[in-house]
Amino acid sequence: MDFLQKLELYRQQQEALAWEGTFKDYLQLVKARPYIAQLSHARIYNMIKDADIEEENGVKKYKFFAEEIFGLEKTLEKLVEEYFHSAARRLDVRKRILLLMGPVSGGKSTIVTMLKKGLEKYSRTDRGALYGIKGCPMHEEPLHLIPEELRPDFEREYGVYIEGNLCPVCRLRLQTEFNGQIELMPVERVIFSEENRIGIGTFTPSDPKSQDIADLTGSIDFSTITEYGSESDPRAYRFDGELNIANRGIMEFQEMLKCDEKFLWNLLSLSQEGNFKAGRFALISADEVVVAHTNEAEYKAFISNKKNEALQSRIIVIRVPYNLKVSEEVKIYEKLIRNSDMKHIHIAPHALRVASIFSVLSRLKESKKQGMDLVKKMKLYDGEDVEGFKQKDVTELLNENPDEGMSGVDPRYVINRISSALVTKDTTCINALDVLRALKDGLDQHPSITKEEKERLINFIAIARREFDEIAKKEVQKAFVYSYEESARTLFQNYLDNVEAYCNGVKLKDPITEEELDPDEKLMRSIEEQIGVSENAKKSFREEILIRLSSYARRGKTFDYNSHERLKEAIEKKLFADLKDVVKITTSTRTPDAEQLKRINQVSKRLIDEHGYCPVCANELLKYVGSLLNR
Ligand SMILES: Nc1ncnc2c1ncn2[C@@H]1O[C@H](COP(=O)(O)OP(=O)(O)OP(=O)(O)O)[C@@H](O)[C@H]1O
Ligand SMILES: [Mg+2]
Ligand SMILES: [Zn+2]
Ligand SMILES: [Zn+2]
Repeated sequence: MDFLQKLELYRQQQEALAWEGTFKDYLQLVKARPYIAQLSHARIYNMIKDADIEEENGVKKYKFFAEEIFGLEKTLEKLVEEYFHSAARRLDVRKRILLLMGPVSGGKSTIVTMLKKGLEKYSRTDRGALYGIKGCPMHEEPLHLIPEELRPDFEREYGVYIEGNLCPVCRLRLQTEFNGQIELMPVERVIFSEENRIGIGTFTPSDPKSQDIADLTGSIDFSTITEYGSESDPRAYRFDGELNIANRGIMEFQEMLKCDEKFLWNLLSLSQEGNFKAGRFALISADEVVVAHTNEAEYKAFISNKKNEALQSRIIVIRVPYNLKVSEEVKIYEKLIRNSDMKHIHIAPHALRVASIFSVLSRLKESKKQGMDLVKKMKLYDGEDVEGFKQKDVTELLNENPDEGMSGVDPRYVINRISSALVTKDTTCINALDVLRALKDGLDQHPSITKEEKERLINFIAIARREFDEIAKKEVQKAFVYSYEESARTLFQNYLDNVEAYCNGVKLKDPITEEELDPDEKLMRSIEEQIGVSENAKKSFREEILIRLSSYARRGKTFDYNSHERLKEAIEKKLFADLKDVVKITTSTRTPDAEQLKRINQVSKRLIDEHGYCPVCANELLKYVGSLLNR
């Protein structure tokens, strides 16, 4: 489909969405689809729910946020369940302003933007559809037309709860234009759009001295005031403040805590009573979610001020810490790179991982637990079991430092460093070492960092580097083993056959010659020695393997070389040990002979075809590992 066709289709869709009718027609819609009259918090909750919620190991995963937000499951669960879900059920939290609090570049604005954009889209769907009184500056809920006395009857008959009263503009129109006949009031479908200032608003405080409350609640229209004669005539007032236009949807309040108190009081009454004061009118009903964001320092200053006590109790704070999982951090960087001008650059495997190791480490706090260190903690948080600790210990570790994740290196810093590495290196590919170097150079240029903090961070770069060295060696060695998986499996099977014969005191049969053979002691030992199984311990080690094997068999599962961590390690080491000299010599020789050259090419090809390298970083990796093995 070419662009013009798409444009035409869009226009058609747009037209198809439009609906206009009278209040009487609207009542029929409500009867058929009561959810069109839901309140703003409920609509947002249902938007998130409709996108699907999955549950994995007791942790809720929201599809709604899945493509943009990584590693913040607990935060999102709090936000959705404790705030939106409760608010949707009209519990008291909805009367509080939502405040996201967290460190810089931790995703607060991203979360708010997703809610706003999501709501624009949702209002175009059937499930998210809503309607408003046509011509109302606040596109208010038409059910406001129903007089207070009739509402209990209505609620009983329609099963729909009504909240809020008619705005001054509609009240006047109802009398002057429609003679009080509410059935005739015009109603239209409302499509949220921040651009069109419908249902989605953003308020940014300017200079506190010149800031006008009108920006929030509208103002007198001086061009028409002479015509209507009075400031209390709604026609002489423009209901175009951010709180007005965001009615039914969401208003983002940027830098809320920097704001003057008089602004905050307006918000309080809005969130608390569902109405606010504007001009010389009776209180004006509003149904909207107010969401603000701030950092920890600002929040602490705010709550330490006694004057703010009343406000404080009307705010619900959701902490948005940094992500603490290395693999999720990688996804953040991938996303940021996709959205940047770097997307044509090849990022070598593990380059983003080492950066993530660095930034996650900087966010972690030391644990008091015996045998725990930051690297172990990092791995544990990322779902890997480590010596002495298992996944079930994670919760306890997290509880040890509730402040964990509220400080450290932010994702933007890392991306900025990667992009500056690109500029200086002038290349088509960035590898892990380039990234680490760029991160380190960045620390040198960082003006506001203390000496201790710098040392701490440099140490994390060193740790990330060591992790990379291990990964790099393994990757190259694996690539040297012709068909690594197959070799590993063959060696493993061979070992098992021998262990079985050994434990049962029987002989093995050569599959080809059918000759009877003793178990190959040399082979078994050469594997066991790799992981330090001593001559004295070999018998019990072998027996343990055999017990595992049969317990797998009993459960109908196959025991393969991934089933036993230590044995897997032994097999891997044995394969590498056999090749060690070849790898070492081949990767570090300056003048390879024909045989070596052939091997290098094969290995490069494997790295490129199977492991995501490009010719540049494959070559760099081989050279680097060569130097590592010769140390
Ligand atoms: N956990 C995360 N998952 C996905 N992206 C993230 C995450 N944390 C940060 N980002 C990305 O980092 C960038 C900065 O985040 P964002 O602007 O949302 O942070 P913020 O908390 O609003 O920061 P500030 O306090 O500086 O306003 C964004 O591009 C965002 O997408
Ligand atoms: Mg922000
Ligand atoms: Zn109105
Ligand atoms: Zn590359």
